[in-house]
Amino acid sequence: MVETQHWRVDPQAAGLKEDLQIRAAAEGIKNGEIVAFPTETVYGLGANAESGEAAQKIYKAKGRPSDNPLIVHVATLEQVRKICTDISPIARKLADTFWPGPLTLVLSSRGEVSDSVTAGLSTVAVRMPSHPVARALILAAGVSIAAPSANRSGRPSPTRAEHVLHDLDGRIYGIVDGGETGVGVESTVVDCTTTPITILRPGGISREQLIEAVGTVAADPAGTRPDQTPKAPGMKYRHYAPVAVMYLVPSGMKRIRELIDQEKNNGRRVGILTTEEHKSDYPRADVVHACGKRSELESVAHCLFHTLRYFDKEKVDVIYSETFPETGIGRAIMNRLSKAASGRVVE
Ligand code: TXA
Ligand code: MG
Repeated sequence: MVETQHWRVDPQAAGLKEDLQIRAAAEGIKNGEIVAFPTETVYGLGANAESGEAAQKIYKAKGRPSDNPLIVHVATLEQVRKICTDISPIARKLADTFWPGPLTLVLSSRGEVSDSVTAGLSTVAVRMPSHPVARALILAAGVSIAAPSANRSGRPSPTRAEHVLHDLDGRIYGIVDGGETGVGVESTVVDCTTTPITILRPGGISREQLIEAVGTVAADPAGTRPDQTPKAPGMKYRHYAPVAVMYLVPSGMKRIRELIDQEKNNGRRVGILTTEEHKSDYPRADVVHACGKRSELESVAHCLFHTLRYFDKEKVDVIYSETFPETGIGRAIMNRLSKAASGRVVE
């Protein structure tokens, strides 16, 4: 156990790179320590990407399988060129269009980042975050920062400092607390070493946005064919799981009300994941949580991981969740919900 340092930072403040809190955190990274920090998607757990020893600390703190590579966070294109070779015109177009922002590009590695970061692959995942605190931290550290989401492996990703501390307090050197993150789901991971490019994980940038920028986009065949191993190693693991058993209910509110009745008759404490529009429609449920507004899917993404953790606090036995249209950010929402439910669906 270590005493985890807690640095509070206002993301809107001017001159963040010189901020004393950011400098203390950057000093930690430079010295091979691991530090959690906010990005526009979720909180990351960062280490100097050139240090294998520092990266190892991340796997240990998270309990992460060592075959699951980390995303390298950069603040400049020069840092990308230092890490990657063969940056295709399409990769360049994606970077120009969506960076800084919630898009991760898988590119050929130059071998500069540690094997512990890439899990020994010949490729490396890179992302330029737009969150001012993340940018300031990378620039102040003067190195690119390898960072997975800052949760214990298998848990919902953290969108608030309290989520990170719940999972990792005493296991990490420090946390830069910049308040709630924005997007709420992780970045879209795109493999740029294939033609056409392949979406390995849906996220903050939608398939529609990618198609508009570069034309043709493929989806990882493992997304639809369970016999195939996903190309993003992380996609094969159980993820985002709340403590209670969770089910998705695509058929709607009437069916959810029947399920609530059944569970109540068996003496179980029931949680419902719904939205503002429907939150008054489940009077018999024990815990009804509105996860944003159905009419604005961005707001659902923003609240999603907090909502999953909220049900843990409320100690429900079972969670039934409404489902969402799989367009735009809805794809990322349904991907996370489906994993949180381990694929359980009630017809
Ligand atoms: O928004 C995000 O992406 C957040 C913030 C902190 O940046 N990070 C994040 O990292 O979600 P993580 O480690 O939770 O997810 C990274 C995903 C995993 O599924 C991993 O297997 C995949 O990216 N990945 C990393 N390097 C890869 C590579 N070289 N080839 C294919 N997939 C890779
Ligand atoms: Mg993660």
